[in-house]
Amino acid sequence: MATPKTAKLELEGKVYELPIIEGTEGEKAIDITKLRAETNYITLDSGYMNTGACTSAVTFLDGEKGVLRYRGIPIEELCASSTFLEVSFLLIYGHLPTTEEFSKFREKIRYHSLIHEDLKNYFNNYPGQAHPMAILSSMVCSLSAYYPELIKADQTPDERDGTITRMLSKVRVLAAFAYKRSVGQAFVYPRNDLMYMANFLNMMFAVPAEPYEIDPVIVKAMDLLFILHADHEQNCSTSTVRMVGSSKANLFASISAGICALWGPLHGGANQEVVEMLEMIQKDGGGYKKYIDKAKDKNDNFRLMGFGHRVYKNFDPRAKIIKKACDDVLNKLGIHDPILEIAKGLEEEALKDSYFVERKLYPNVDFYSGIIYRAIGIPTNMFTVMFALGRLPGWIGQWKEMIEDKNMKICRPRQIYTGEVNRKYVPIEKRGS
Ligand code: SDX
Repeated sequence: MATPKTAKLELEGKVYELPIIEGTEGEKAIDITKLRAETNYITLDSGYMNTGACTSAVTFLDGEKGVLRYRGIPIEELCASSTFLEVSFLLIYGHLPTTEEFSKFREKIRYHSLIHEDLKNYFNNYPGQAHPMAILSSMVCSLSAYYPELIKADQTPDERDGTITRMLSKVRVLAAFAYKRSVGQAFVYPRNDLMYMANFLNMMFAVPAEPYEIDPVIVKAMDLLFILHADHEQNCSTSTVRMVGSSKANLFASISAGICALWGPLHGGANQEVVEMLEMIQKDGGGYKKYIDKAKDKNDNFRLMGFGHRVYKNFDPRAKIIKKACDDVLNKLGIHDPILEIAKGLEEEALKDSYFVERKLYPNVDFYSGIIYRAIGIPTNMFTVMFALGRLPGWIGQWKEMIEDKNMKICRPRQIYTGEVNRKYVPIEKRGS
């Protein structure tokens, strides 16, 4: 059936016609831009479960079919043939780079990798147990203090590109320095002779006493994981980046806010929670049936972390790819990790259980990713930092798309007030006990 041009809404005896818009992938929306002006009604949709915040050409996902494409290219093809830096260019600039474009992009990333020496001192003021996401979000915002020329609103395209390449290059340095601080090791500076991911791994794991041997298996695994985390439409953290950026706050502030949103255990923080859950199950004898029952028990706060998704009501295509990569990477590294078997057993058990099947709860991107990070030697409390590094180009691409939109408006949702109605001030002596 053809998509109608309008939707009719009858309110208080009057019929209103609201325009319908359809995206390039056939997604349909009722445009309520004029609803309040015409009807004095607003809509209410807690958690924005049915609300589109914007149109976007960056990423498309189909939650029923388990489809995920960046600028139209399926993630399966990008995982097989691309690198994280090339996917970053694709997400931010909208096309795969030509050889010349990519070498220029890579050169800028390489040139802008150092952070101001002053910034190193900031790390020493955090207590050792500080969560790396706390450090990362504040250090990203602090970067802006060293680029006063890059925090103004309405940047020129060149200024915007300069901010973007600095962000892409320096955030991985801040992440590596946060890790080194947490383990009490000396910072390792970026090296211009190393490619993006190898450079990051070297900053994370090299120590002055001995060079870090860059293992191509690990570089490939990290590229794959970061590609799979690179963007995901209007998820919580991306919506936060857009919300903050819509006030024309600079990119540093917007990304710092996105990092904070990602930190939550219902969002990016889940990858840390998954491994902690699997370790708990392992310590408890490895029997996962008990935990399936706990997850189903409404009186128990326990959730099967890494399961379920707001949009994917079938399998999360990223989880499928990461699950396979788990076996490959651990075999190649010669690692047997018992929690991988526990994870597989949990998945198998859950997918047979009507509670999960009825609620369409499948493993999401966070369910297996931590097992690979662990095999590489990344500590659990750094997993969400890895998610942030992976999601960075998506946040930037979505911010750039919004900032370049001539019709951009500051995000300012409405509400329905449910508090006390008009009442008088009562002096304290008359308020009683
Ligand atoms: C990410 O948006 C994105 O795209 C996010 C992300 C991205 O790339 O940016 O994909 C990354 O954040 C993945 C999700 C990581 N979070 C987790 O793994 C945490 C565990 N999962 C959940 O808390 C939950 O599934 C959410 C937060 C992911 C989705 O929550 P929704 O859509 O708000 O669904 P809900 O909480 O309303 O749950 C619906 C039902 C409820 O049961 P009923 O009240 O209907 O009886 O499913 C149950 C929930 O109790 N449920 C779970 C469950 N997830 C949902 N029960 C047990 N274990 C779970 N994990």
